[in-house]
Amino acid sequence: MHEDIKEILFSEEQIQQRIKEIGAALTEEYAPVAARGEKIVLLSVLRGAAIFMCDLAREIKLPLEMDFMAVSSYGNGVKSSGVVNIVKDVTTDLTGKHVIIAEDILDSGLTLSYLLKNLGSRNPASLAVVTLLRKDVEPQAAIDCKHIGFTCKNEFIVGYGLDYAERYRNLPYVGILKPEVYSK
Ligand code: IMP
Ligand code: MG
Repeated sequence: MHEDIKEILFSEEQIQQRIKEIGAALTEEYAPVAARGEKIVLLSVLRGAAIFMCDLAREIKLPLEMDFMAVSSYGNGVKSSGVVNIVKDVTTDLTGKHVIIAEDILDSGLTLSYLLKNLGSRNPASLAVVTLLRKDVEPQAAIDCKHIGFTCKNEFIVGYGLDYAERYRNLPYVGILKPEVYSK
């Protein structure tokens, strides 16, 4: 897999260091919530964000629940259309709980915009977004993020959960694919 990568944008060490920082910040921010005995739910959208969520969960030193959703977005599969179909819903009752969505990458923001509306209607005590990456593009839907790991240039990237045709998710770093990989 490594030979298909043109450039490494964020190394394994950089990613893990940043997740430690975000985890520490969330631990501080949500400590009062936990002290009141209120529940925290860490939620991710399969499949890309699962790896980030699992690493982040271990850096949040508070009791929390973990749950997953899976969505499919209608469209050509490359660009997000904003019309989202929930393929797998959470099984946790979110009412009165503090929900933290861990996202892999924020591009157009359309998927998250839909999800925030949907999850918001379930009466959580609070709803926040944490994203590992944000593409340096003008978003079609503005998303308010509590924490952003890194901002990256507007190129198609893979690794650390992100795929091209379901490959490269298990790379420990984030990088840009060589163009010849697409044209194969
Ligand atoms: P959007 O914000 O609705 O445009 O969609 C964001 C989702 O598209 C992310 O959660 C990723 O799953 C996927 N995505 C966006 N950009 C990339 C990329 O560069 N590589 C791999 N997946 C991407
Ligand atoms: Mg995603």
